[in-house]
Amino acid sequence: MTSDKAKKLWGGRFTAPTDEFVEQFTESVSYDKRLAHYDIAGSIAHVKMLAKTKIISKKECDEIIAGLKQIEEEIASNQFKWSTALEDVHMNIESVLVEHIGEVGKKLHTARSRNDQIATDIRLYLRDEIDDVVLKINEVMTALITLADEHYDTIMPGLTHMQSAQPITFGHHLLAWVEMLLRDRSRLADCRVRVNVSPLGSAALAGTTFSIDRNYVAKILGFDEVTQNSLDAVSDRDFIVEFLASASLIMMHLSRFSEEIVLWMSQANQFINLDDAWCTGSSIMPQKKNPDIPELVRGKTGRVYGNLLALLTIMKAQPLAYNRDNQEDKAGLFDAVDTVKMCLTVYAGLIPTITVRHESMLEAAEEGYTTATDLADYLVVQGLAFRDAHAVVGKVVQYAIKNNKLLSALSLSELQQYSELIKDDVFAVLKLEGSVSTRNHVGGTAPAQVKTQIARLKKQI
Ligand code: ARG
Repeated sequence: MTSDKAKKLWGGRFTAPTDEFVEQFTESVSYDKRLAHYDIAGSIAHVKMLAKTKIISKKECDEIIAGLKQIEEEIASNQFKWSTALEDVHMNIESVLVEHIGEVGKKLHTARSRNDQIATDIRLYLRDEIDDVVLKINEVMTALITLADEHYDTIMPGLTHMQSAQPITFGHHLLAWVEMLLRDRSRLADCRVRVNVSPLGSAALAGTTFSIDRNYVAKILGFDEVTQNSLDAVSDRDFIVEFLASASLIMMHLSRFSEEIVLWMSQANQFINLDDAWCTGSSIMPQKKNPDIPELVRGKTGRVYGNLLALLTIMKAQPLAYNRDNQEDKAGLFDAVDTVKMCLTVYAGLIPTITVRHESMLEAAEEGYTTATDLADYLVVQGLAFRDAHAVVGKVVQYAIKNNKLLSALSLSELQQYSELIKDDVFAVLKLEGSVSTRNHVGGTAPAQVKTQIARLKKQI
């Protein structure tokens, strides 16, 4: 990045040069150069429209496009000299264009402002990134479904309040995460509709005096529509807020998942193991194998939430139309995009390395009297009201705790002390396999349901 005393494109009415610190303070090129590809695509579409509407000649249009394509190559091969003094990606490219092709380059900015230009760049960039995030969500869902398929009937303890509640299948548990990611994906698709609208032609704030063809530019750039109010188009960033909110929800889900991975891997549970390649060690404790990767995903969630809150605050109370505050929208957006993509990449890679320790899961599910609800349901079938059945089973559990026995280890006569409705068919109900397989309805944990859901989800992805 050079800070040569480049002539400012807006310098006509100024007599003194910009203070050097002010140059540093106001520049955005150090990070908005990431938008260069979209800036050039937008400029090419714009000059094609200027030629079509005879605002510039076909020859001028061709010369400008050739110059822009050359610049695109220079940027791609790292030969382009970015200058802080030229402030942002737009003016860097325009200045070099004039250097390359001469006077005709000065016609590029006809009927346009950096205000509609930056709004266009961000929308084009974000549209691509949304598509990329969706692909990564699909990868994570596929990994989850594959593991769920392997473990459609693996029994584990289901928890509420972090206490053993009822036995569930591990496959069912994993598919819960797929449901969350499906909603995340549909939120992004919804957000994309509002991102994919062309602001070009709004110019600085009021539109332009030239007879432009906004729909033609929009069509070239693949936008579905054009914005309907120039003041709104150059100033609002609600579409970025929507993306950051969707990204925050993705991170919220990934952080919850991360927490479970950490818990499942702990010595206390020993439900799963991760491949060495996806764990890290301790510099002092030689025995350690730590789940730092899910912990980092959990931690990075804070950055994305922060970026959402930052943009909401940047936008709060901004009067119409464009204000320079808006330049602060980009750093947080880029950071959120990078973070979400990295964290999804983590889980697409990590999930396939999960190995399951069936016995630990089963043992934990046996403990904690997790079939107590099944016993109560059994009594209801025998004619007892549920609330009375609940009370009876409470007493049975009390007895089991006192005698240090599992529910399934109680004898028929022990059980019958609490209700003569209990017969010897009760033991099927007290077994974990019976408990899960009878929850066989849409949304239930039965292995048969897990299989049905997997078939549905595979079609949906
Ligand atoms: N760098 C600015 C931004 O990111 C460009 C937009 C127009 N700037 C201006 N001073 N009107 O928002």
